[in-house]
Amino acid sequence: MNFDSRAKTWDDDPMKTARAEAVAREIRAQVTLTPQMSALEYGCGTGLLSFALREQFKHLTLADSSSGMLAVLEGKIASGAIANMTALKLDLASDPLPRERFDLIHSLMTLHHIDDTDALLHALYALLKSPGYLCLADLDSEDGSFHGADFHGHRGFDRETLRRQASDAGFRNIRFTTVFTIRKAVASGGEKDFPVFLLVAEKP
Ligand SMILES: C[S@@+](CC[C@H](N)C(=O)[O-])C[C@H]1O[C@@H](n2cnc3c(N)ncnc32)[C@H](O)[C@@H]1O
Repeated sequence: MNFDSRAKTWDDDPMKTARAEAVAREIRAQVTLTPQMSALEYGCGTGLLSFALREQFKHLTLADSSSGMLAVLEGKIASGAIANMTALKLDLASDPLPRERFDLIHSLMTLHHIDDTDALLHALYALLKSPGYLCLADLDSEDGSFHGADFHGHRGFDRETLRRQASDAGFRNIRFTTVFTIRKAVASGGEKDFPVFLLVAEKP
């Protein structure tokens, strides 16, 4: 999926902002955020989720593998004169772990694009301070109609399988809530609802 070419118009879709705001609300409801905390968003795109959370953190690092997304994000950071956000080009499938450690890692609609979920969960665990929080929002299991036939990523996630994978990576107190529903036109005709979960888990 080419995110570079979609970056400039990404924020034009009000659903994406509403989705990010719904996830941010649930993160605030589930985790006690304090002004000393630092956060990493992984697969940030144009930063919609972090923009919805930015007043709660001392500093946020926004990481993505798409140069196009990061260019739009950097424009938003500059035009808003935002002092507590830094953009970072990062693909944890191939790049070494950054040196910094974070109090919280959040991610929205990125996990299903990454082949090796176990490896990513282990990397995110290593990037957290102890104690630290992981907040992952993504699609529940779906029949493939969300992206259509040419997509080779995950068709959403089964919550119990993902709970086990997060537990195997070391996370504890793993819980799920349904935070949003994406209504989307599908190739077979008409529209379909795709629920989005938020997993919150703790690194002890
Ligand atoms: C569906 S978009 C979601 C963007 C943003 N989180 C949002 O909700 O608006 C998925 C994002 O994950 C990024 N991504 C995909 N694979 C990645 C990887 N291996 N490492 C880092 N980012 C990745 C894409 O570039 C894209 O920005």
